[in-house]
Amino acid sequence: MIITRRGFLQKTLLAGGALLVLPAIRSIGSGSSLQAAGPESFRFAIIGDSHLMGKKNPRLKLRLEAAIREINSLAPQPDFVIHLGDAVHDGTPEQFQYFAETITQLKPKIYFVPGEHDWYFDMGETYRSVFIKGNAPYSFNHKGYHLIILNGIGLNDYWTGRKLTPQQRMEIAGTLNHPLQGPFRLGKEQLAWLQKDLSGVGRETPLLIFIHPPLYHYYRPWNFWVEDAPEAHLLLKPFQSVSVFHGHVHHTVQNEIDRMKFFSTLSTSWPYPYPDTGVPKGSAKMPRPGPSNFYDGLGWSQNSAGNGDMTHQDILWTLTPPEGS
Ligand SMILES: [Fe+2]
Ligand SMILES: [Fe+2]
Repeated sequence: MIITRRGFLQKTLLAGGALLVLPAIRSIGSGSSLQAAGPESFRFAIIGDSHLMGKKNPRLKLRLEAAIREINSLAPQPDFVIHLGDAVHDGTPEQFQYFAETITQLKPKIYFVPGEHDWYFDMGETYRSVFIKGNAPYSFNHKGYHLIILNGIGLNDYWTGRKLTPQQRMEIAGTLNHPLQGPFRLGKEQLAWLQKDLSGVGRETPLLIFIHPPLYHYYRPWNFWVEDAPEAHLLLKPFQSVSVFHGHVHHTVQNEIDRMKFFSTLSTSWPYPYPDTGVPKGSAKMPRPGPSNFYDGLGWSQNSAGNGDMTHQDILWTLTPPEGS
């Protein structure tokens, strides 16, 4: 089997509504069994960090609805949409109900990834309920690709000993630099699940991984960090094509570690600034958002997969506001 690699290309476009086009291009040689099996082409969209708060902040719903409108108008339609987590802000059943009523406007099928704001009010009980199905980790195959949804928001128990209320637990988990929070972890159980899941997947099968925080060590003071990410990297590294998608940082950032590609997706709620240190070398930064713009620094992403290739494109609304805004 011959595998060739054309390398990782990166360029920045600053016009036409598309800020960043980041192809992670891999070619499969003519003798490849993968080419014979032939992963098919498909498109998928990513939204995330919508942080809906119910009627107390309807602006957040308007921004999520703008992304839904744009995705619904894509032709052809994406095969599916991934929501990368932090669907709601305070994790309450009322906010999930509000989110569920909003997201039903989306036409394509949607998969959900848990964020810390979805989880720490009731430890994921509502997230796992009828509103949002999908108890991460889980995986499935699509057109020759293997997709894995991880729960990246595990935290050490800071609440039981302190007898914290659900609201107090949520507030600490949802504060990026809270001293009690500690770093996110996948945990041994999930790493064992990942190892078992990957044991049934051919090394030539392209992997698409979805997780809420970045699956690497980006910036610890704001918990842009998964402590045991390097252990996941060891499991993923043998695969010929690995693309990892995350939210949580509310800005565009890209990374490459041992040929694995990492892409953030913009939020639809509010942007976070870049930290002073830790931004991966070579990562394109989005322009500083203008606070007077209702859609400043926000957006979503569209992605194309096919024949082992993967192209990620951020749709940044600061440059081209969504239609109907
Ligand atoms: Fe978020
Ligand atoms: Fe988050």
